[in-house]
Amino acid sequence: MAVEWCICEKRHFSELQREAETRGFPTVEQLIEAGLCGTNCQFCVPYVRRMLRTGETSFEVGEGDATPSDSPGGASSSAPSDSPDPTSDLDSPQT
Ligand code: FES
Repeated sequence: MAVEWCICEKRHFSELQREAETRGFPTVEQLIEAGLCGTNCQFCVPYVRRMLRTGETSFEVGEGDATPSDSPGGASSSAPSDSPDPTSDLDSPQT
């Protein structure tokens, strides 16, 4: 059984990935704060975290990143998650 959704928010991971790119959210915590996922049972959180790291949107149960990227020696390929900030124009041009 593949894990591809935040069931509670009824959002597919591909939609979450698109939202993260559009809004410039590099972390799952920002998606949670925006109410896009992880707002209830938080089952999806490790998977969304991995999605943000790898770009994958379909996982087997247990394949999520259980720990935040700032934990020492957590992931095997611990890419630094300095915000690449591809959309740095988030400052609203209009007030
Ligand atoms: S599956 Fe995402 S909060 Fe429950």
